[in-house]
Amino acid sequence: MARLKVGVPISGRGSNMAALAEACADSAFPAEIVLVLSNEPGAAGLDRARDFGIETAVIDHRGFAGRAAFDAAVTARLEQAGVELICLAGFMRLFTAGFVEHWRNRLLNIHPSLLPAFRGLNTHERALAAGVRLHGCTVHFVRPELDDGPIVMQAAVPVQPDDTAESLADRVLAQEHRIYPAALRLVAEGAVTVEGERVVYPNGWKNEGRSIDPSLR
Ligand code: GAR
Repeated sequence: MARLKVGVPISGRGSNMAALAEACADSAFPAEIVLVLSNEPGAAGLDRARDFGIETAVIDHRGFAGRAAFDAAVTARLEQAGVELICLAGFMRLFTAGFVEHWRNRLLNIHPSLLPAFRGLNTHERALAAGVRLHGCTVHFVRPELDDGPIVMQAAVPVQPDDTAESLADRVLAQEHRIYPAALRLVAEGAVTVEGERVVYPNGWKNEGRSIDPSLR
């Protein structure tokens, strides 16, 4: 079985990258990470990737005159590695519309909120301030608008009365690490399609889960 070749751009600690790498360490998993790429030379996730034996690259955005030039360099490096699907994992730079269109429906992101609520930064603080009773995370295909695009998978967590942004972030992150590999599996298997800017599941599929959509297998 040919495994889908995945590239993982990161900017920081890389815990979602590690969750994906752990899933891909199983040779029966339908995807493999061929490159972890960071725009930050000091990103801790680079060491974690090397610990998994994954090739790494640094493309420092500060060395480029503009976003289009940086994005072109990122695409060139990913394509050099044979990447077929990108999984953004805490990559904290916006891509140009040209980059997003080039990778259309081959570009996933994980975001720490139940989209379309709380796009952007500081999602946990904003969820607490808004008083929502459920918060969570979303894996979605990327579109040019910030944190927009067809939703593949979401997980919800309860907000507790004594939560801080940190405690809530920890609870959400644990779910991020569950749903990102699960969503990658579905996409790599070709089990989901994008129709009319919504992700469609196979006929007859039902969510048997409680707080994760779709339920995990
Ligand atoms: C994760 O919580 C991810 O959802 C978030 O950054 C964190 C990265 O952690 N991404 C975004 O906010 C993107 N808008 P990690 O480096 O340990 O995976």
